[in-house]
Amino acid sequence: NRIVLAFSGGLDTSVILKWLQQTYQCEVVTFTADLGQGEELEPARQKAKLMGVKDEHIFIDDLREEFVKDYVFPMMRGNAMYEGLYLLGTSIARPLIAKRQIEIAKMVGADAVSHGATGKGNDQVRFELGYYALSPDIKVIAPWREWDLASRTKLIEFAEQHQIPIPRDKRGESPFSTDANMLHTSSEGKVLEDPWEEVPDYVFSRTVNPEDAPDAPEYITVDFERGDGVAINGVGMSPATLLETLNEYGRKHGIGRLDLVENRFVGMKSRGMYETPGGTIYHLAHRGIEQLTLDRGAAHLKDELAPKYAELIYNGFWFSPEREMLQAAIDYSQDKVTGTVRLKLYKGNVQVVGRKSPHSLYSEKVVTFEDDAGAYDQRDAAGFIKLNALRLRLLGRRDG
Ligand code: ARG
Ligand code: SIN
Repeated sequence: NRIVLAFSGGLDTSVILKWLQQTYQCEVVTFTADLGQGEELEPARQKAKLMGVKDEHIFIDDLREEFVKDYVFPMMRGNAMYEGLYLLGTSIARPLIAKRQIEIAKMVGADAVSHGATGKGNDQVRFELGYYALSPDIKVIAPWREWDLASRTKLIEFAEQHQIPIPRDKRGESPFSTDANMLHTSSEGKVLEDPWEEVPDYVFSRTVNPEDAPDAPEYITVDFERGDGVAINGVGMSPATLLETLNEYGRKHGIGRLDLVENRFVGMKSRGMYETPGGTIYHLAHRGIEQLTLDRGAAHLKDELAPKYAELIYNGFWFSPEREMLQAAIDYSQDKVTGTVRLKLYKGNVQVVGRKSPHSLYSEKVVTFEDDAGAYDQRDAAGFIKLNALRLRLLGRRDG
């Protein structure tokens, strides 16, 4: 009867909207999420209206605060990076879109949901694992896996036939697949498909070229409370405002560009370009405050869990018991992760240059190279090393 479509208002999902109406002869409900992609969303409403979607079936929701507070921040507590480099900007947004889409489906009495991800990628998996986890009997329609518009050319022909506006840049030189939200912008396809070719300048949209960034470094501070950022330069702000503010610093100094060949869950390698300006600063700042406040055992265990946790998010298992178990451990570790980090931003680079915390485990008295007034007895180290050396000496004696 009714289908809820995750509708960005772009070319692909506009074609999908028309195609669903034709193919399934049913009402399509559109859902457009504002995740801080920095685009006007009213045009999406106009497009949906033009294609016959009823006013009460057009949902445009501002999810920016929820996105940062309940998805980005928890992920950052875990220092998640996929394959050591990718800050998961697309991966972390999909579960929230899926969740809201299912809520809307329940509200309007729809029995099906649909999305614009292709049958080759990760996003289809993330959307659909989310749908099924939250609504086990939902019907899923993935047009890219069903229709006979097998290429971009066919898609554009279909759009022309049905008076669907085709954005200029889709026909120009830009990468054909992009995804943007407050955390990042990603681009794939077209000029990027040859992994030997350097990403051309016009692909970047939210950071200045580091070569053109200011010649003077800039210093900022980020305050953390229990593992979450709460203020910049001493000014308290909401999660989304904090990330937006870091995005502005990152943009100006050309921070957070990443050219990556990664392994998709479906098995193929893909080459993408990411811009994660604020997220790159935030990630490093969080590690900076953990340096001071986490015990070594807790910190090292976190570092062992982080790749596993990142892989779960990348593969679309946000709504899974194993992700929630890891999250519980990560969140438990953040109890004392409170304090201030000072950062230096300069030409594409961000460095931690200072940190302080009321819960610091750092003891200058113990570590000092100067007179420690009995805080540490160096003679203790002899036995410590001797016992650690015992098995090495036994081996040495045997194998000589
Ligand atoms: N490869 C990234 C991921 O799997 C981004 C995918 C979406 N990006 C895009 N350009 N369509 O998370
Ligand atoms: C897509 O295939 O729709 C985008 C890329 C991905 O999901 O990995």
